[in-house]
Amino acid sequence: MSRIFFWGQFLEKMSLENMAKNHVDRLNEVGRMVSNFNSVFDLARLMEKILTSARTLTKCEAGTIYLLRGGKLVFAQSQNDYLDRIVDDPTGLPFFNRNMEVSRSTLSGYVALERKPLTINDTSSIHPGAPYQHFTGFDNESSYVCQAIMTLPLATDDNEPLGVLQLINPLGEDGLLTCFSEDDERILSFYCGFAAQAMEKSMTMNSAISHNVEIISSQDPLETRAHATRVATLATAIYRHWSSKRGVNEDKRLRVLNLLPFAAMLHDVGKIYVPKSVLTKPGRLDQRERAIMEGHVLAGARMYVDSFTPLDEITREVILDHHERWDGQGYPGWVDVATGAPLPEKSGPDGRIMGKKGEEISLYGRIVAVADVYDALSNRRAYKEAFDQTLAIQIMEQESGRHFDPEVVESFLAVKSILNRIKNLYPDPPYEPPKPVFESGQAD
Ligand SMILES: [Fe+2]
Ligand SMILES: [Fe+2]
Repeated sequence: MSRIFFWGQFLEKMSLENMAKNHVDRLNEVGRMVSNFNSVFDLARLMEKILTSARTLTKCEAGTIYLLRGGKLVFAQSQNDYLDRIVDDPTGLPFFNRNMEVSRSTLSGYVALERKPLTINDTSSIHPGAPYQHFTGFDNESSYVCQAIMTLPLATDDNEPLGVLQLINPLGEDGLLTCFSEDDERILSFYCGFAAQAMEKSMTMNSAISHNVEIISSQDPLETRAHATRVATLATAIYRHWSSKRGVNEDKRLRVLNLLPFAAMLHDVGKIYVPKSVLTKPGRLDQRERAIMEGHVLAGARMYVDSFTPLDEITREVILDHHERWDGQGYPGWVDVATGAPLPEKSGPDGRIMGKKGEEISLYGRIVAVADVYDALSNRRAYKEAFDQTLAIQIMEQESGRHFDPEVVESFLAVKSILNRIKNLYPDPPYEPPKPVFESGQAD
C-alpha cells in the first residue's frame, strides 16, 4: 500500500515537473514571438503577426482581432484555416467588415468591458443565466461552428482597452477539436500584454503620420491622404518586387518594407510651406511660382535634418530625392539642404547646381518618383484632368532611362495588376474647384 502511495506521489511530482517545464518552454516561445513585435510599425501587418503567433501558441484553427473604434468592436483581422480550405475568398463572407456594438451580452463585448480573459470550452453549454452568450450569427452565415473560444483583452499598461483577441477551436495532435487548458489562458494573457503594447506604439505612430498628411491635405486638396496612401502602397509593392528580384537579404527587406510606406506617405510634407495660391493654381506656374513650388523639397528635408531614427533617414532620402531624374535633369540636385546653396565639389564648371543622376539618387527616392508621377498622371490635378491608365503606363515606359530608373520601371510594370485595386481602395475625395485665395492683401 505504502509502495503504491509512494509511486502515486512520484507520478504526481513528475507530472508537475513536466507541466512546469512545458510552461517555461511556452514562456520562452512567447519571448521569441514578441521580440519581433516592436519592429513592425504597420498596424495591419502587426495584427496579422499577433494573431498568427497566438494561434501557433494554442494550436487554434481560427482567430479574430477586434479593435475598439468609436464605441464599436471592429473586425480588424481574421484567420480561419478551415474556411480558407473550403471558400475561395473568406473575406467575401458577409460577417467580414461588420462592426458590433460593445455590449456585455457578447463574449468579445464582455471581455472588452471587464478587461479579463474568458475561456469557454463548449459554447453550446453556456449557462442561460450567464451575462454573455455566444452570438451564433457568424457561425450560421459561415457554417463554421465556434465550439471553444478564448477571448482576451488587448489593453494598454494603464488598462485602457484597444480591442480583444479571440482564439477559436484548439486542435489536438490528431487534428481533432480539443479544449483550452488553464495554462493556455495564463500564457495568452501574458502574451496579450506585449501584443497590446506593440499595437499602442504602432497606433501612435500611424496617427502622428496621418495628422501630418492631414496638414498637407489642408493646404492642397489634391495632395490628399488618398494620394499619399496610393503612392505609399505602390512604392511598397515596387520595392517588394525590386528587392526580391535583386535577392536582397530578408532581414533588410522586411526592415525597408516596414519603413518605406510611412516615408512615402510624407514625400510632400514640405508643401505645408508652399502658399495655397501656388499649390492650387489651375494651369501652368510661372517661373517664380515654379521656384516656390520646387522649394517644398528642401523645406521638407530640413524637417528631418536633425533626426536620426531609421525611419527619419529613409523619410529624408525620399523627400530629398523624389523629384530628381535618372538623367540628372531633376531638382533640387547637389545642394546644401540647410541653405540651398550649390555644393562646390559637385557644381558644374560655371558653378551651376547639378542634378543628381542615376544611382546617385537614393533607391527610395527613385522608387517614390515612379509611384508619385504615375499617381499624378492617372488622377486629376489642379492643372490637368486624369489620364487614362493605358496612356499613363505608356508615359512611364517612355520615361524609363530618362526620368526614371529603368529597373524601377521594370518592377512598376511587374506589379501593374494592382493599380486598379489601389485606385479603388483609396479614391480621391470629390473635386471642388479652387476658390480665389487672398494673401498679403493680394489676389493671386
Ligand atoms: Fe513632391
Ligand atoms: Fe505627391
